[in-house]
Amino acid sequence: MANYDILGNIVIVKFPRKTSVKEKKRWAEKFLNEKKHVRTVLEKVDKIKGRLRIPKTKFLTGENTKEALYKENGCIFRLNVDSCYFSPRLASERLEIAKMVKKRERVLVMFGGVAPYAVVIAKFARPSEVVNVELGRECCKYALENTRRNKVENVVKIIQGDVRKKLPKLEGKFDRIVMARPNLKDSFLDVALKKIKKGSMIHYYGFYNIDEVNDLGELIKNEAKKAKKKIKILKIKKAGDIGVRKFRWRVDFIMLN
Ligand SMILES: C[S@@+](CC[C@H](N)C(=O)[O-])C[C@H]1O[C@@H](n2cnc3c(N)ncnc32)[C@H](O)[C@@H]1O
Repeated sequence: MANYDILGNIVIVKFPRKTSVKEKKRWAEKFLNEKKHVRTVLEKVDKIKGRLRIPKTKFLTGENTKEALYKENGCIFRLNVDSCYFSPRLASERLEIAKMVKKRERVLVMFGGVAPYAVVIAKFARPSEVVNVELGRECCKYALENTRRNKVENVVKIIQGDVRKKLPKLEGKFDRIVMARPNLKDSFLDVALKKIKKGSMIHYYGFYNIDEVNDLGELIKNEAKKAKKKIKILKIKKAGDIGVRKFRWRVDFIMLN
C-alpha cells in the first residue's frame, strides 16, 4: 500500500520497496484520474535529511513541478517541496496552538519553515507580533510570500538564520514560544529558555518511542534546571506518528520564574 501526503496540487507518495516502475506509474495515473485537484505525482525517494529537513522527491507523472499551492485552516501557502520542509499532517496542531494564543501576545516560532504556524496564529488569534525564525533561505522567501498572500505581513516578521545566532539578538522576551523542532539531537532549549517571559508557555516538539516518552519530560526538566528556571509541564500529547512505535510529541510547559 502506497503512503502519501497531498499538498494542494501535488501528491508525494512513498511506495513499498520492490514496487516496480510499471506499478508506480499505474498507481500515479489512477490517482490523478480520481483526485482532480491533484496535478502532479512525486515519489519520495529518500528519508528526510540534514538540518533543513528536506525530503528528496522524483517526478513521476502529471505536470512537472515541485511548487505546491496548499490550503489549510483557511490560509494558503506556496512552497517548493524539494527545498522546504512542510507537513500537512500538522494542520490540526497549528490550529490548536493558534486557539491558545491570547490577544496582544508576542509569539516566537522557532524553526518556522514557510511560516505555517506563524500565519495560522496571525489569522486566528490577535497577537501583537509573531516572529518566525528559519534557517533555509528559500523557505524564508516563501514564508515572506505566504505572509503577504494571507495578509498578515504587518503582524508576522520573518527572520532568516540559525536560531542559536538570531535569538540572542532579538529584543525583549515572548509570551509564547513554539518549538516546531527538526528531528535532530540538539534540544535548543537553552536558547529558548532565555527568551520566554515568566508565566508564559513553550510548546516543545520532540521525537520519541512510546516507551521512552518519560525521557522527554526529564530532558526539559534538566535543561530548565541548568538554566535556573522553574517550569511546570501541563501536558504531553501525541502530535503524529513518524515511524514504527515512534511519535512526534508535543509538550506544553509554563515558566514559573
Ligand atoms: C520540522 S521542520 C518545521 C517546519 C515548519 N515549522 C512546519 O511546520 O512546516 C524544521 C525546520 O527547522 C529548520 N531548522 C533546522 N535547524 C535550524 C536552526 N538551527 N535554526 C533555524 N531553523 C532551523 C529547518 O530548515 C526546517 O525548516
